[in-house]
Amino acid sequence: MTDLNQLESDLRSQIDAAADEAALEAVRVASLGKKGAISELLKSLGAMSPDERKTKGPAINGLRDAVQGAIAARREVLAAAALERRLAAERLDVTLPVRDGPETRGRIHPISQVVDELTAIFADLGFSVADGPDIETDYLNFTALNFPVGHPAREMHDTFFMRPDANGERKLLRTHTSPVQIRTLKAQKPPVRVIIPGRTYRHDSDQTHTPMFHQVEGLVIDKSANIANMKWVLEEFCKAFFEVDSVKMRFRPSFFPFTEPSAEVDIQCSRKGGEIRFGEGEDWLEILGCGMVHPNVLRNCGLDPDEYQGFAWGMGIDRIAMLKYGMPDLRPFFDADVRWLDHYGFRPLDLPTLAGGLSS
Ligand code: DAH
Repeated sequence: MTDLNQLESDLRSQIDAAADEAALEAVRVASLGKKGAISELLKSLGAMSPDERKTKGPAINGLRDAVQGAIAARREVLAAAALERRLAAERLDVTLPVRDGPETRGRIHPISQVVDELTAIFADLGFSVADGPDIETDYLNFTALNFPVGHPAREMHDTFFMRPDANGERKLLRTHTSPVQIRTLKAQKPPVRVIIPGRTYRHDSDQTHTPMFHQVEGLVIDKSANIANMKWVLEEFCKAFFEVDSVKMRFRPSFFPFTEPSAEVDIQCSRKGGEIRFGEGEDWLEILGCGMVHPNVLRNCGLDPDEYQGFAWGMGIDRIAMLKYGMPDLRPFFDADVRWLDHYGFRPLDLPTLAGGLSS
């Protein structure tokens, strides 16, 4: 019969010597596992005489408990030591400055910023946002807007046409956001108050023109919307957008097929020192086209011009972004150069609101 005291002291020294959890587990298997030394002893109890069992039983069970206890205690010591080692290895200096996360490094493109600003201003005036596709039908881009077929106003748009389809229909890249007027009026019953910011395309490229650019359209249709309302809306918009207390605006008679009467709007500014300022000065700067929606346009949308009327306007977003934020050249807007975006972009978490400030 194995000397239990000797076995216990052997196992205890193996347990104490176990340097990690794996070594400790090996000792456990060798002693308490299925074929372990202590398990074998426990099995031998069955073959003993009752008297022998009376003395050996408690001794062997006591040995098992003692070894189990020693293993559990050693396991705790090893786990604590492992934790200490990790803590030492993964030491963090919490006094170091926090590295900026991506949300502080990314930048919002000035066009997106200006669209957010426009949306905030017009939302406050009760407008919602509508949109339509970049690839448009000739009908919606021109015909429904009262551009007669063959009318020279079509030629002024430097349109990108697609190849005609099987029916001979020629789609195009919309030259303005005005076709969304038609889409909106066909989908929605008056009263309608929408703005339509979006991409537009014309075959044109220089310092202030790119083949893809952005417009925001405005449309108000109800039973009484009139020119005075239009002037007020546009004036409130300009004051809010350029963040000045007052602006002088000049409405010059003009022509658009889809409005009658039509006007182009200039705002007064100063260009002293090569810098444009609004609310002062003697110069004029054209910023938008507008007018009362033409009766033919209303008819094309199934509305009775004797019942409904309204006004619309269209404005270049890129242009007002350049004016507001002092960017001299439009082309780098669309070069995707991160250095330009770092310089002219906006912090992503500074959302423009009327209460919190549009551009601060
Ligand atoms: N669609 C015109 C353009 O691109 C701009 C415009 C003028 C839009 C007058 C309008 C408007 O809604 O009433 O040149």
